[in-house]
Amino acid sequence: MSDLLITGGTVITVDEEGQIFDPGVIAVRGDEILYVGPAGGELPPYWKPQRVINAENKLVLPGLVNSHTHAAMVLFRGNGDDLSLQEWLENKIWPLENKLSAEAVYWGTLLAIAEMFLSGITAFADMYFFPDAIARAVAESGIRAAIAPGLLGISPDSATRLREAISFCQEWNGAAGGRVTTMLGPHAPYTCPPEYLAQSLAAARDIEVGIHIHLAETETEIRGIKDQYGVSPVAYLCRQDLSNVHILAAHCVHLEDADIDLLSQNNINVVHNPGSNLKLASGIAPVPRLLTAGIPVALGTDGAASNNNLDILEEARLVALIHKGYTGQPTVIPAEEALKMATANGAAALGLKRKCGRLKAGMKADLILIDRQQPHLYPRFNPLSALIYSARSSDVDTVIVNGEIVVERGELCTLDGEKIMHMAERQARKLLQ
Ligand code: NI
Repeated sequence: MSDLLITGGTVITVDEEGQIFDPGVIAVRGDEILYVGPAGGELPPYWKPQRVINAENKLVLPGLVNSHTHAAMVLFRGNGDDLSLQEWLENKIWPLENKLSAEAVYWGTLLAIAEMFLSGITAFADMYFFPDAIARAVAESGIRAAIAPGLLGISPDSATRLREAISFCQEWNGAAGGRVTTMLGPHAPYTCPPEYLAQSLAAARDIEVGIHIHLAETETEIRGIKDQYGVSPVAYLCRQDLSNVHILAAHCVHLEDADIDLLSQNNINVVHNPGSNLKLASGIAPVPRLLTAGIPVALGTDGAASNNNLDILEEARLVALIHKGYTGQPTVIPAEEALKMATANGAAALGLKRKCGRLKAGMKADLILIDRQQPHLYPRFNPLSALIYSARSSDVDTVIVNGEIVVERGELCTLDGEKIMHMAERQARKLLQ
C-alpha cells in the first residue's frame, strides 16, 4: 500500500453538500483519504505521494456498494431462468444448494468478487452458507464485505447453526485490516419463527454485530405471515426487541403505510433490489415513499441466479428509471439520489457509515475511476447524468479499496481472473452432476 495522489479528474464526493470538484484532487495516506478538494487546493505540508494517478478524462467517485447479495450463487447463474419463484427455488436452487461445499463457495465468491471489482464495487453485504470460505475469499481479494451466515430457523440443526454463526462473527469481525465485518443472517420471517428471531437478535446485540434479513419480498410472504401471525412481515420483525441492533432488510417490496412508519421508527436500513424483483416478478418497492420518509435506501443485486449479474451501476440506472415509469413522475429518484443509494446509503446499510461511501478526509480510501473518454459519454455536460444514465460498468478503469489498487486500466490486480473462471466453472459443473 503506497500513498497516492489522484489528480485531474472530476471528483464526485457524494458528501452531505453534494460537492463536485472539476478538476479535483484526492490524497490517500495508507488506507485513508487524507484530503479531497479542488485542483490547486492545499495538500497537507510535508506529505509526499509515492504514486500519482492521472485521472484526466475520468470521473472519480466513492466505490459502489452491493448491499444485498449471495455472492457464491454466481455458480447458479443462468441455471433456471424464466420460472416462477417457487419452481425456481424448489427445483433448481435448493437441490444445488444441498450439494454445496466450502470449496464451491470459496471459488464462487472469488468469481463474484472478480465480477464486482471490474464493475466498480468496493464493498458488499453477503448472506450465505460456509461463511469461513466467504471470509477467506474476501480477505485474499482485497474487497470489503459485511458477511452474514445464512440462518434458517425451521431447519433441524438451527440451534447448532446459530452457535456456529456466532463463533464465525466473533472470529472474523474486523479481520483483514478491518475489511471483513460480520452480521447474523436470519433468512426471512417465513423461515425464522419468533423464538428463533428473538435468539438471533439477542445474540447480535450481545456480540455487537448487525442483522441481515430478507423482508416483505413477495405477496406470498405477506399472506403467509398474516395468516400465521396476524401481522405484516415488517410488523412481525418490529414486535421483536430491535434496540441497539443494526438491521439491514433486503427487498421491502410490499409495504403498507404503517410498515413504512415502523421501518423509519426502528432505523431499519432498506436495500432495494430492482433487477431481482423484476426478474422474479416480486413487485416494485415503494422506493420514493421510503426516501420521503427519511429511510436511507441502498441498492443490491441479490444473487446472480435471479439477476443475472452483480452490477450496481445497472441497478442504479434501473432504480432511476423504474420508479419514474411506475409513479408517472419523471422527477423521482434523480441521478444524484441514485448515486447516493449506490454509495453512501450502501455504506450505511453495511453499518459502515463513518468508514466509507463518501469521498471525505478521514474516510477509508474506497474509490473508483470511470473512463469518460468514450463516445457514449460525450458531450461532457452533467457528470452525474453521464454516470447514471449513460455510463457502462465496463467503463470502470481503476478500483481502490482501503488504499490498495485492486483494478487498474480495467484489469484485476489482486486476483487471477483466468484461474478463478476455470475453477468456478469446474465447481458449478460438479454441482450439476
Ligand atoms: Ni436475497
